[in-house]
Amino acid sequence: MRLFILQVTLLEEVVMTKKIFPSYCMQFIARVLSCVFIVLLYPAANNANAGAAENDSTARGKLVYDRFCSLCHGKNLQGQPDWRTRKLDGKLPAPPHDETGHTWHHPDKMLFDITKYGLVPPNAPENYKTDMPAWGGTLKDKDIWSVIAYIKSRWPEDIREKQKEVNSASLKNR
Ligand code: HEC
Repeated sequence: MRLFILQVTLLEEVVMTKKIFPSYCMQFIARVLSCVFIVLLYPAANNANAGAAENDSTARGKLVYDRFCSLCHGKNLQGQPDWRTRKLDGKLPAPPHDETGHTWHHPDKMLFDITKYGLVPPNAPENYKTDMPAWGGTLKDKDIWSVIAYIKSRWPEDIREKQKEVNSASLKNR
C-alpha cells in the first residue's frame, strides 16, 4: 500500500516537473485529482492486502496439514475408509475434512479447540477414547488457525457459505 502511494506521488512529481500543467490552477486540479484517486483506490489496495494475507495463511496451512494431519485425514482430506464405523478397538477412524465429512458442521472456534486440546470436554465426553491427538504442544495457535484456513479453502463455495452461518449462529449463542 505504501508503495502504491509512493508511486502515485512520484507520478504527480513527474507531471509537475515536466510542466504539463503550466498554470498553478491546472497544477492544483491535478493534485486534487490524484488525492481523489488515492482515496478511491485505497480500499481496493487494502483488500488486495487482506486477500494476500489469507493466501499466506492458507499456503502455510497446507504445509502444516501435509506434515501433521494428512497421515490420518488423508492427503486429499478424504479421511480413512469406512470412517463412520468404529474399529475393533472401539475407536473411530479419522473423518474426512472435505465437504463429505462433518468438519464444516462445526464453527471455527470448535475446530480450533479440537485441534489444540484434542477430543476432550466440552467437545467430547469425559475420558473419550480417540486416536485424534491434541496438537497444542506441537503447533502454535497461528499454525492451527492456518491449517483450519487451508481446510476451509478446500470446501466448495456453498459449503463455505453454510459453515459461515454455523459460525455466526455459534457467536450469537454465546
Ligand atoms: C493419528 C491420526 C490423526 C492425526 C495425525 C490427526 N487426526 Fe484429527 N482426527 C483423528 C480421528 C481418529 C478423529 C475422529 C475422532 C473421534 O471422533 O473419535 C479426528 C477428528 C478430528 C477433528 C474433528 C472433526 C469433526 O468433524 O468432528 C478435527 C477438527 C481434526 N481431527 C483435526 C485435525 C488436524 C487439524 C490435524 C493435523 C494438525 C489432525 N486432526 C491430525 C485422527 C487424527
